[in-house]
Amino acid sequence: MSITLYGARVLKDLSNQELRVLNMVETLLKKGEYAPVEKIVTYSGYTGKEVSFIVSKLNKKKLLRRWTGQFVGYTLTFAGFDALALNILYNKKVVAGVGRAKGVGKESDIYHAIDFEENEIMLKINRTGRASFQQVKKRRDLLKGKFHYNVFSLAELSSKREYEVLSKLQESKLPIPKILGRNRHIIAMNVIEGTELVKVQNLKKPIKILEKVIEYAKILYNKYNLVHADLTEYNILYNEKKDSITIIDFPQAISTDHPDADLILERDFNHLFNYFGNKWFISPEIEDVVEYIVGKK
Ligand SMILES: Nc1ncnc2c1ncn2[C@@H]1O[C@H](COP(=O)(O)OP(=O)(O)OP(=O)(O)O)[C@@H](O)[C@H]1O
Ligand SMILES: [Mg+2]
Repeated sequence: MSITLYGARVLKDLSNQELRVLNMVETLLKKGEYAPVEKIVTYSGYTGKEVSFIVSKLNKKKLLRRWTGQFVGYTLTFAGFDALALNILYNKKVVAGVGRAKGVGKESDIYHAIDFEENEIMLKINRTGRASFQQVKKRRDLLKGKFHYNVFSLAELSSKREYEVLSKLQESKLPIPKILGRNRHIIAMNVIEGTELVKVQNLKKPIKILEKVIEYAKILYNKYNLVHADLTEYNILYNEKKDSITIIDFPQAISTDHPDADLILERDFNHLFNYFGNKWFISPEIEDVVEYIVGKK
């Protein structure tokens, strides 16, 4: 199979020493923007010469990026971070191989992959911060001296949050992705057969689909105390054969205890009703629907 994710492709040629140093850089990045070579030497137990050799190899492989300032240091690249996560998912026997990209977006990349029984699976690789690095940097400056945020921990946080929400929902009958494992910023899940609602040209009974979304939102709200918070025509996949939908993309889901939960629920449905109104000429009353979901009626 062709392997297109760079971090997966280089993984098989990485030595244990290289992996160890990569891991060490990741740990050191929790303390500062760059991992000082000096510190890598101290913690790894390798000699200065060995470390220089390993980091320059990792730099050439584009898994680390060199920085020279008051000291010489390295930071991870997203490819390096991918390699670390995939190494664990491989060792845990969750992911056996990575295939072509299904989609590369702003917040995440979706890749085809296979598990150890050669079933097709899907990887959601979180890229929070990739597009808005400057913003992250600004935020980091505000937090200066307190603790250290980097794009990798932000991506991991978002992925972890999505995994936790999906875990909580696995036993429900709600149509959501089945999760198979997670490491760092990568979630392995089943492949959902379907097309984003926004791209669907033929819906047999649009009203039925909207009713389903409302029912699912009600269960999410009342049984699991959650509001999706990004319930759009992009995050609902439609399966034409089965005339069914699946709801995806949960990292931003919020608890119903959140003071703005009902407002955010209303925002979700205002947005969806715009879509259903413009495309399928259905426009229910927003207040009625929100009240129905929240359960005041
Ligand atoms: N398990 C899956 N099976 C099939 N397709 C999927 C799956 N997960 C995601 N996709 C596809 O990838 C797209 C992006 O996934 P998702 O909505 O979870 O991430 P996102 O954070 O919105 O990503 P982006 O910022 O790239 O839009 C989805 O709209 C869907 O088409
Ligand atoms: Mg999405």
